[in-house]
Amino acid sequence: MRGPFARALTGALGLVTAVAGVVAGAAPAAADSVVVGGSPAAITEAPWVVALSSRDRFGGTRAGQFCGGVVVAPTKVLTAAHCLGREVLGGQPWQLRDFSVIAGRASLRGQGGQEVRIADTWVNPDYDPTTNSGDLAVLTLAESLPESFVIKVAARGDAAENPGTAAEVYGWGDTSGNGSYASSLRSAHVQVLPDAACERAYPDGFGGVSYRKETMLCAGDPRGGRDACQGDSGGPLVARGVLVGLVSWGSGCGQAENPGVYTRVSTVLPERL
Ligand code: ARG
Repeated sequence: MRGPFARALTGALGLVTAVAGVVAGAAPAAADSVVVGGSPAAITEAPWVVALSSRDRFGGTRAGQFCGGVVVAPTKVLTAAHCLGREVLGGQPWQLRDFSVIAGRASLRGQGGQEVRIADTWVNPDYDPTTNSGDLAVLTLAESLPESFVIKVAARGDAAENPGTAAEVYGWGDTSGNGSYASSLRSAHVQVLPDAACERAYPDGFGGVSYRKETMLCAGDPRGGRDACQGDSGGPLVARGVLVGLVSWGSGCGQAENPGVYTRVSTVLPERL
């Protein structure tokens, strides 16, 4: 049976497949590997990482997790706009009566932390589902999370966005590229890559998705093997202690020649939430 993500990520996978079809000979994703090529992460060290959940839609085995998110204020969580698309949710976000974030819990099979209902959703009006540009949404929580969960967002032109900067990506997504979803939080060590690396991998004229440096950030492992993958979308890319990106898209997972593409939070997030 296709798991919840098969359904959850149709839209995103559609984009990925379109690209992969053109980038012929794409190698299978690294087998050893959030996140591929990652390792277990403690929620106490990354309290700003949350899971987006709806058991009604995605089933209870993994607490209904279908995307990641990041706490940027006690009642505000950033995620990817494509996570709230009709293809993922099967309708509008407010129609999912149990739509929540799970905070302070690393294991989706565990009980720790808290589940908080989503009171309101805002999808970036400039999000373009065809190009995937501006892939950001803001969730307003029904109750506040502790201030200690909040991570600072990079400012426009922050040095943390410079190529070569060490970064960490977090999520409960596919660890293999073959649909094996993590039940505990993982993180992978990557680096911010030059825009040229993603412009080369995802040039114009592929029909739909292509890399746009104004709204996207390129990151990965120059040797391949470490990357975000399906199910990690909306989750954080952190460098120098600040949030620089949200997992957005890529072709396959962990391939050296196809880096991960992230929402560039510093330019896409409005000044005032
Ligand atoms: N679109 C995927 C999702 O919805 C994220 C893919 C990220 N891929 C990558 N190779 N970095 O979960």
